[in-house]
Amino acid sequence: MQRVVCPGSFDPVTNGHLDIVSRAAGLYDEVIVAVLINVTKQSLFSVDERVEMLTEVTKGYDNVKVERFHGLLVEFCADNGITAVVKGLRAVSDFEYEMQMAQMNYRMAKVETLFMTTNPLYSFLSSSLVKEIARYGGDVSGLVPDPVLSRLRERLAAE
Ligand code: PNS
Repeated sequence: MQRVVCPGSFDPVTNGHLDIVSRAAGLYDEVIVAVLINVTKQSLFSVDERVEMLTEVTKGYDNVKVERFHGLLVEFCADNGITAVVKGLRAVSDFEYEMQMAQMNYRMAKVETLFMTTNPLYSFLSSSLVKEIARYGGDVSGLVPDPVLSRLRERLAAE
């Protein structure tokens, strides 16, 4: 049983995230999408909302599960029988920090990290940019799954 994790903040999940999760689901027996509970970081959506959105947009994949975690990713991996982390790499700018985390996670607990190159359609995409564009009335359709688009509109209209 090869169980891997796709960790992140997912505030909110984008089509770029979904692309990586779906490709990982085609390669491994089980993919856990793990939402980091980070009380120090301000987020647009609560952890519950992020988990709900992820659950909805991954419901078509039988081998994808959505969980939440706090603390170290390597501890979540040890507790859940996960041997590898799967991450998307968009551009060289992602590389330095991702490599540092990958090497640290290996150093701490021999947890491997596997990098997948992002679909070029989404290489410019990030949750932060999506929020900023949506906040100023820009069109983010096609960049996030439809259920996320409607939640974004609702949340930002209420601001
Ligand atoms: O979507 P993000 O915010 O870029 O995801 C970052 C995440 C959650 C993958 C990373 O911050 C993480 O793994 N945090 C958990 C705490 C931890 O293990 N830190 C040490 C990393 S070497």
